[in-house]
Amino acid sequence: MHTTKELIEIISTGVKNIQYNAEPQNLYAPIQYILSIGGKRIRPLLMLMGYNLYKDNVDSILNNALALETYHNFTLLHDDLMDKSDMRRGHLTVHKKWNENTAILSGDTMLIMAYQLFNQGIRNEEAWAAFIDATLGVCKGQQYDIDFETRNDVSEAEYMEMIRLKTSLLLGYALKIGAILGGADKEDQQNLYAFGEKIGLAFQLQDDWLDVYGDPKKFQKKLGGDIVDNKKTFMLIKAYQLADNAQKAELDKWMTATEFQEAEKIAAVTHIYNIVGIGQHVQKKIEELFSQALACLEKVKVNSHQKDELRHLADQLLGRQY
Ligand code: IPE
Ligand code: IPE
Ligand code: MG
Ligand code: MG
Ligand code: MG
Repeated sequence: MHTTKELIEIISTGVKNIQYNAEPQNLYAPIQYILSIGGKRIRPLLMLMGYNLYKDNVDSILNNALALETYHNFTLLHDDLMDKSDMRRGHLTVHKKWNENTAILSGDTMLIMAYQLFNQGIRNEEAWAAFIDATLGVCKGQQYDIDFETRNDVSEAEYMEMIRLKTSLLLGYALKIGAILGGADKEDQQNLYAFGEKIGLAFQLQDDWLDVYGDPKKFQKKLGGDIVDNKKTFMLIKAYQLADNAQKAELDKWMTATEFQEAEKIAAVTHIYNIVGIGQHVQKKIEELFSQALACLEKVKVNSHQKDELRHLADQLLGRQY
């Protein structure tokens, strides 16, 4: 069995070796750029880890795993455009460094490259169906995310479903595809999927929390973007539930403001989050999901020590600073 460090090394080398057409430069340079400026590589890592629970020759599914990372990076190019984000992984986003059309078209190209790479990996009908379900699901989740910006009655359940689609599916399916290709039985496939899905929900809750409370030097994205965009995060939904009338009115004022200083809006909404103690509510939710995730992992029928790396990774993700 490989250590997480070894798997990350295999993935990094794989990413570096992805072949690009040279021309047009302005189509491919942004792809190389986004794939070279960092990223935690969690999705391909989960795929290799899922596979490695059953088989050792992880290289044989490297292209399937790289497909997932390429797909994820495609979503980032378009997500940053939709969210009007200037910074990603501590660097300028593609639409800022180049322009919006480049982010659209290089993103589209990465989407196609992702399907190409997946086809160059192990071919398996169930894995293919899972890949399609995952990649289509993210688009659905992203649409809800955008729809929710202009709604003010989004429930906690709707938020959870939205992040399940935009974030959790990819993590859950990463593990499931690895397990399918590794020859796991249906029950293990499902339990690994459920583990990834719960970790994914916690991962997005943590991302939303970091967007407000992250250390700007470590987070590598600009803070406060979700507040500026009126994203209906768990924090905002919960803050409305906990707020008194004056605080609700203050939140309403900022949600409907059309002309404002971004810093002022971020400070005002964060102030309400602080007063109602939003941090502890988010952390409680994250911990609940974490223990549900671990319960799913426990059911996977491989030796307990083989699951140590997955337990450790989950633990690390929840305490992450970026
Ligand atoms: C960012 O994903 C988008 C979310 C789902 C929050 P990651 O936090 O995995 O981003 P990188 O790939 O490590 O930069
Ligand atoms: C996006 O969520 C998840 C994707 C499918 C890309 P966010 O919009 O919160 O991700 P970041 O914070 O920009 O990485
Ligand atoms: Mg987004
Ligand atoms: Mg975003
Ligand atoms: Mg975010």
